[in-house]
Amino acid sequence: MGAANTDNHGDDHVCTCRPQPDDLRPTREILERYADQAGGLVPVLQEIMRTYGHLPRPVLEEVARARNLPLSEVYGVATFYAQFKLQPTGDTTIKICHGTACHVADAPEVTVAVSEELGVRVGGTTDDHKYTLESVSCLGCCGLAPVMVIGEQTFGPVSPKQARLLVAAHRGGGPAAAEAAAGREGTGETTTDDAEGEGSA
Ligand code: FES
Repeated sequence: MGAANTDNHGDDHVCTCRPQPDDLRPTREILERYADQAGGLVPVLQEIMRTYGHLPRPVLEEVARARNLPLSEVYGVATFYAQFKLQPTGDTTIKICHGTACHVADAPEVTVAVSEELGVRVGGTTDDHKYTLESVSCLGCCGLAPVMVIGEQTFGPVSPKQARLLVAAHRGGGPAAAEAAAGREGTGETTTDDAEGEGSA
């Protein structure tokens, strides 16, 4: 089991560090900053994701209005890419790869273990809005199968027990604690490319 780096955030959660979904000031600032990049909706939506943690409807309506686009077109882009979320997610997203290599290497069992540890199903967010559990397709580091990503850290291969330990450690002490737990399990740190979800499995 090793660790590397990636990123993320979570339900009807109102996070004090983020603007409210109907607070359009940040949206307007973002739109202004990207005003000369006509046609490029993706960077705008990425910036909005980083700011709000998801893409609230009022914000998408504002984007459509400002860019003089049909709302359906903005939604089309927002729903095409797995990186965009229409609903708030937890502060940290835990992704478990269910690509072929990971699937045959016990990803379903890893998912069950993490799901039990968090007390949520895949797609769900913990009651404290700290974690969202996602199932994703191949993250491009199949040699580490089965792979689990916690926020910006990528771990693999992980057994169900190790996955549970890593999640518990992260819950207790954040990324550093998860990293330390990976070390205790006797595996070194592994560097992989950004494993930001390429799509839901
Ligand atoms: S199948 Fe999981 S990283 Fe490729």
